[in-house]
Amino acid sequence: MRVMAVVLYGLFYLLALTTSFCFGANVTYDHRALVIDGRRRVLVSGSIHYPRSTPDMWPDLIQKSKDGGLDVIETYVFWNLHEPLRGKYDFEGRKDLVKFVKLVKEAGLLLHLRIGPYVCAEWNYGGFPLWLHFIPGIKFRTDNEPFKAEMKRFTAKIVDMMKQENLYASQGGPIILSQIENEYGNIDSAYGDGAKKYINWAATMATSLDTGVPWVMCQQKDAPNPIIDTCNGFYCDQYTPNSNSKPKMWTENWSGWFSAFGDPLPYRPTEDVAFAVARFYQLGGTFQNYYMYHGGTNFGRSSGGPFITTTYDYDAPIDEYGLLRQPKWGHLKDVHKAIKLCEEAIVATDPKTTSLGSNLEATVYKTESGKCAAFLANVGTQSDATVKFNGNSYNLPAWSVSILPDCKNVVLNTAKINSMSTVAKFVRQSSEDGAKETDAFSGWSWIYEPVGISSNNAITKPGLLEQINTTADQSDYLWYSLSFEMKGDEPFLKDGAKTVLHVDSLGHALQVFINGKVAGSGNGRNSNSKVSLDVPISLVPGKNKIDLLSSTVGLQNYGAFFDLKGAGVTGPVQLKGLQNGSTADLSSQLWTYQIGLKGEELGLSTGSSSLWVSQPALPKNQPLVWYKTTFDAPSGSSPVALDFTGLGKGEAWVNGQSIGRYWPTNIATSNGCTNSCNYRGSYSSNKCLKNCGKPTQLLYHVPRSWLQPSGNVLVLFEEAGGDPTRLSFATREVQSICSRVSESHPIPVEMWTADEETRKRAGPTLSLACPHSDQVISKINFASFGTPRGTCGSFSHGRCSSKRALSIIEKACIGSKSCSLRVSANTFGDPCAGTAKTLAVEASCA
Ligand code: GAL
Repeated sequence: MRVMAVVLYGLFYLLALTTSFCFGANVTYDHRALVIDGRRRVLVSGSIHYPRSTPDMWPDLIQKSKDGGLDVIETYVFWNLHEPLRGKYDFEGRKDLVKFVKLVKEAGLLLHLRIGPYVCAEWNYGGFPLWLHFIPGIKFRTDNEPFKAEMKRFTAKIVDMMKQENLYASQGGPIILSQIENEYGNIDSAYGDGAKKYINWAATMATSLDTGVPWVMCQQKDAPNPIIDTCNGFYCDQYTPNSNSKPKMWTENWSGWFSAFGDPLPYRPTEDVAFAVARFYQLGGTFQNYYMYHGGTNFGRSSGGPFITTTYDYDAPIDEYGLLRQPKWGHLKDVHKAIKLCEEAIVATDPKTTSLGSNLEATVYKTESGKCAAFLANVGTQSDATVKFNGNSYNLPAWSVSILPDCKNVVLNTAKINSMSTVAKFVRQSSEDGAKETDAFSGWSWIYEPVGISSNNAITKPGLLEQINTTADQSDYLWYSLSFEMKGDEPFLKDGAKTVLHVDSLGHALQVFINGKVAGSGNGRNSNSKVSLDVPISLVPGKNKIDLLSSTVGLQNYGAFFDLKGAGVTGPVQLKGLQNGSTADLSSQLWTYQIGLKGEELGLSTGSSSLWVSQPALPKNQPLVWYKTTFDAPSGSSPVALDFTGLGKGEAWVNGQSIGRYWPTNIATSNGCTNSCNYRGSYSSNKCLKNCGKPTQLLYHVPRSWLQPSGNVLVLFEEAGGDPTRLSFATREVQSICSRVSESHPIPVEMWTADEETRKRAGPTLSLACPHSDQVISKINFASFGTPRGTCGSFSHGRCSSKRALSIIEKACIGSKSCSLRVSANTFGDPCAGTAKTLAVEASCA
């Protein structure tokens, strides 16, 4: 027995050794691709930033990425999250980078670790910890010793952590790639001579850390060897790396765009993303990454800006709440499959592109052994075209690419979506007896936040202080307070209501209190953070008090010297007696400052304080109030949102965890939106906007894992004034599923691997599947075979439609988890011979 045990133990040990040594992959690159264990690879990657969701959500997000056809997950590393105080590290909970990387590995995916440590990312201060700014002599992102020492220390710390856990591919881990710096090339000219030295230093520093896998620098034309320079943008097909020995890589394909309070919401049409992806692989690219694949949520005060919203949904293939955004996710999945069918040919050779006419291009990858894959593109924005290629003719819709994995048959056209769509919506929670939604909350209590200085730590200084240098971002808030005497004969008194207080602030938001009462407020926006206010005020003889509450809404994250862009009331602050034209400048007076709020000092966000008042007369629509309540979690397992209708501006905490800044009264500008956005033609971040004239963000994600079934504590700090009893919960649900497939669509991409005969017999097919495994199709809301109009959620019958379509589809789908229907007159009868027909279906699941 003992011998047996020893032998077994020995075997086990050997196995353990071999797994850790032999499974290590060798990652290099050449002019075509990343080379993993000697094999060039076509890779598809997607960004998921671990702190923008919860560890509970990670496995599902990673699985959905894998199911969507990704090979690689990309994430930045967020320095200010991990090292809030110099030398004090935090890798717990949402910050558990190692756990995230391990989950990616467990799912069988690879990882691209973009360490930065400058990351941009619409993240507070671009990812830099604020303490960095206060190191004597420091200058960020240039040839500066104190900066380089800190950057190296953190980068080395992360590399070391990954090595300790054997997470590099060279050690058997999933990390195949790392990034140093981020888009420095976009702004480096502003840094003069230091720029080149810095980038060379960064390259040497990174390489010296010996990760065993390649490093990239994005948007860095002069990235020195062996660093690969990569492209970021809405399109990167025209990109060429700076050396013929480096592969063409796309680190950020923006799947949508970020949003800012006060702006409408950008979205990017699926057909255009698919077009950009196909064009990239057509023209020699072998690695592309969706930024973002899941955008998620800017919890706490993590959003950058200024003014970046709490939601970081990004119109990504997986929405903020973790649901598939369809048809984006599904169509891109099809694109990935189509490209993978071409992988062998793509990696074996260089592409050869020829013109098939104006705006029409054919690219062929043909190997010596006879493998052949082709891409046919129509880059024109106006007209569809028919092209001749290898003796066959192909229809190419405007702004589309057809993929031919055998140089003959089209497996996919980027403008023809076979994937189903979903309409997701927020369903308000109401209690069973139909009572008001707000019954979810069991009574409110409150604490007033004092106006002006209330802390013993206040400081008094002559002149106006810049905010970030004063608060070190310990809080969003800084009080500027001034007391002065008004003698009886002051012109400002005589003018009465005609006296105006003028305040100039660098931003981001400002409230003015005169003698303890709100007198005015204002805020900047993402494009210009400055606030300039002229507030009519009434002063009184004797003592008067001006209290200015200046707040930041996410620190600048982009641009040359972004770290030096200030905030707060830097002046001038003036009293203007309008009637007699006299002005008194208060800017250089003795101002008293308080960093942060009393409530922050008392730790009210946890809810545990003896100061909470609960009397029937809950203060409403008054500024500076802390509110608290308890609630039961909404039933079911769907993702949860809080609807902030009725509130103004502030921050909210659930069971002590900050769900982020809320600002439902910040309304998106009323112009720039389009009802439907034409995907044909170059996309830009303001091409397709929605939500004009509505609150930029009304609903805020409350992760399920932060909730217990009952007795949850919600705390709000309401800055501007609101009515918390109007708050309500909603859950994120898929309302209906639909699809629209025409007779001219390619057959489903999965059919490609079927035998020749089956493929010949196959035709365009419409497929529907319920989003949850425990659901079945319960109702067909719309069905038309003919010339249906509209999009998912608003289909209508066109000039021609088959009478039998509805009943045929009901028979095929109702009661099933999924169903597939051949789009053909053989199935539905021909309602209009000679006309190209389309099948459109909308269904519900239950
Ligand atoms: C890029 C940057 C990303 C992100 C993106 C916009 O310039 O590298 O970090 O900020 O823009 O979402």
